[in-house]
Amino acid sequence: MILVTGGAGFIGSNFVLDWLAGTDEAVINLDALTYAGNRENLASLENDARHVFVHGSIADGALVASLLKQYQPRAVINFAAESHVDRSIHGPEDFIQTNIVGTFHLLEAVRAYWSGLDEPAKQDFRFLHVSTDEVYGSLSKHAPAFTEEHRYEPNSPYSASKAASDHLVRSYHHTYGLPVLTTNCSNNYGPYHFPEKLIPLMIVNALAGKSLPVYGDGQQIRDWLYVKDHCSAIRRVLQAGRCGEVYNVGGWNEKPNIDIVHTVCQLLDEARPRADGKSYREQIITVTDRPGHDRRYAIDAGKIERELGWKPAETFETGIRKTVNWYLDNQAWVANVQSGSYRDWVEKNYAERAA
Ligand code: NAD
Ligand code: DAU
Repeated sequence: MILVTGGAGFIGSNFVLDWLAGTDEAVINLDALTYAGNRENLASLENDARHVFVHGSIADGALVASLLKQYQPRAVINFAAESHVDRSIHGPEDFIQTNIVGTFHLLEAVRAYWSGLDEPAKQDFRFLHVSTDEVYGSLSKHAPAFTEEHRYEPNSPYSASKAASDHLVRSYHHTYGLPVLTTNCSNNYGPYHFPEKLIPLMIVNALAGKSLPVYGDGQQIRDWLYVKDHCSAIRRVLQAGRCGEVYNVGGWNEKPNIDIVHTVCQLLDEARPRADGKSYREQIITVTDRPGHDRRYAIDAGKIERELGWKPAETFETGIRKTVNWYLDNQAWVANVQSGSYRDWVEKNYAERAA
C-alpha cells in the first residue's frame, strides 16, 4: 500500500480517486482537515476497504511513525501543504509550520521507518514530494520556460515555504540516501478545486451573480494543467522516476488570467445563460493587485516527456469545459464548501481591494 498526505484536498483527493480507480493497491490517507481538506471529496470511497482515512498532521511525528509501522507502505506521497498564495500574504505562519516544519517531521519519521526496512524493501521504497513551479520565481515575457535547472527565486511566503521543503527533501536524499522524488507542477484546475483559487472562484461567483475580481491588469500568465494529468504524472514519476531527481510537470498551456476569466464566462454563457440574456463578462471587475504578484510562470515539461514518456491527456479547451460542467453538476458540493470560514476569507481578501 501507499501513504498519501493531504489526500482530502484538491489534488490529493483527485489523486486518491484516480489511484483506486486504476489499482487495488490500498491508500492510507493522512490529512489534517484544515479549511482546504474536505471528506466530501472522498465520499465515493466511504465503504471502500482500500481507503483508510486518518485525521492528523504530518507534523505529528509519533502519529506518522505509528502509521508507517502499522501499514508498512512502499511509498509516501506528500501533498499536504498550505497552498494559497493570498492566504500566505495575510498570514505566513501556518505556511512555515506545515510546509517547512511539517515536512521536516514527516521526513524524520519516514527516514526512521525506511532505515529499518530490509534491503529489498529499502531499495523499492519511494518518498515523492509534490511541489510547485512557484519556487522558481517569476519569468519575463519572452524568457524560456522553467527547467529543473532554473535557480530557486521564490517570491511569496507560500513559494518560499515550498522551496524550503524542496531543499529539505533534497538534503534527505543527499545526506541519508532516502529515495526521494520531487515534482514541480504548474497551476492545476479541475474537480474539487476550492473556490478561493482563480478558476473555481470565477465559476462560483459568476453563477451567484457576484463580481469576478481580476487582480491588477489581468495580464499575469499561468501555465494550466488539468488535475488528472498532474495525477498521471505523479503516478508515472513514482513508477519510473530516478531517485533524487526533480521532474517539472506542466501542460504547455500559458494563458493570461483575463483570458481564463473570459473563457469561463463564455462556457457559462453557453451552458447556463444569464436570465437577462447578458454575458457573465458583465460581472468582471479589476481590483487591487496581489502584493509581489509573479508576472509569469511557464513549465518546460521536456524532461518528464523525454525520460518517462508522460504527456497530458487534456488540452486546456477540453479540460476547462469538463471543469465548468463539473461545477454545474455539483452545486451541492459548491454550496457545502462555502462555510462561514470561507465567507470570512472572501471578506478579508476582497473587501480591502478597491474595485
Ligand atoms: P489544498 O490546499 O487543496 O489541499 C491541501 C490539503 O493538505 C488539505 O486537504 C489539507 O487539509 C491538508 N493539510 C494541510 N496541512 C496539513 C498537515 N499539517 N497535515 C496533513 N494534512 C494537511 O492544496 P492542493 O491545491 O491540493 O495542493 C496539494 C499540493 O500540491 C501542495 O503541496 C501544493 O503546494 C502542490 N501544488 C499545487 C498546485 C495547484 O495548482 N493547486 C500546483 C502545483 C503544486
Ligand atoms: O503555480 C502553481 C501554484 O498555482 C500552486 O503552487 C498554488 O498552490 C496554487 O494556488 C496556484 O497559485 P496561484 O497564485 O497561481 O493561483 P490562484 O488561483 O490563487 O491565482 C491564479 C492567478 O489569478 C494569479 O495570477 C492571481 C490571479 N487571481 C486570483 C484570484 C484568487 C485573480 O486575478 N483574482 C482572484 O480573485
